[in-house]
Amino acid sequence: MKFHVMTLFPELIESAASTSIMGRAIESGLIEVNAVNIRDFSKDKNRRVDDYTYGGGAGMLMQAEPVYDCYRSLKLKSNTPVIYMTPVGEVFSQDKAEELSKYDELVFLCGHYEGIDERVLEESVTDFVSIGDYVLTGGELPAMVLTDCVARLIPGVLSNSESGEIESFSDGLLEYPQYTRPEVWRGKAVPEILLSGDHAKVEKWRYDMSLAETKKFRPDMYEKYMDDLRERHR
Ligand code: 6GU
Repeated sequence: MKFHVMTLFPELIESAASTSIMGRAIESGLIEVNAVNIRDFSKDKNRRVDDYTYGGGAGMLMQAEPVYDCYRSLKLKSNTPVIYMTPVGEVFSQDKAEELSKYDELVFLCGHYEGIDERVLEESVTDFVSIGDYVLTGGELPAMVLTDCVARLIPGVLSNSESGEIESFSDGLLEYPQYTRPEVWRGKAVPEILLSGDHAKVEKWRYDMSLAETKKFRPDMYEKYMDDLRERHR
């Protein structure tokens, strides 16, 4: 899968992409991250890509033309999602990540300043995505959040031990607590059942803990999980 990132800060993208599991996935050719500098498409002698907003008000806006030329340079296949990272977009989710993982290329458009001229968004963008209800200075970190989340769904990116059979969100519940050595740390012992060797009991304990954690930390997810259970048993 190829990820194109249209940005004013390609170094930020390259540095995030070259680290850890994403870096390994690039090395092994499973993913490609192509950071493209929108500034390279400026026709201004000072390489400017921003200007004042019509109607007045504080702040600068990214101009349509450099963004459009950058977009056209990617020569995308016709169905490729072009995702504008913006706090006004739909909030990103595991379901959205799974939908995006079906494509063989994705494009992220990262805005800066007060945003981007609306006309180039109309001409190029297919999806408006936010990563949550707070405001960041630019779309680069959000684009890397999506890249990370989609990349790990691609077969081969995670090793067997990294993928895990049960994980948060994939079945609608949060993960159960986990423990490693030592058996007692600062007077706190590992729950006895985990040392029992009784696999069925361990599974039951983990499921119960997942339910309890979800109910405590994410009552919204808990209600949905219970509703779905009831639905399935009808
Ligand atoms: Cl995608 N961009 C910016 N600038 N801020 C955000 C965001 C995106 N998602 C949440 N806050």
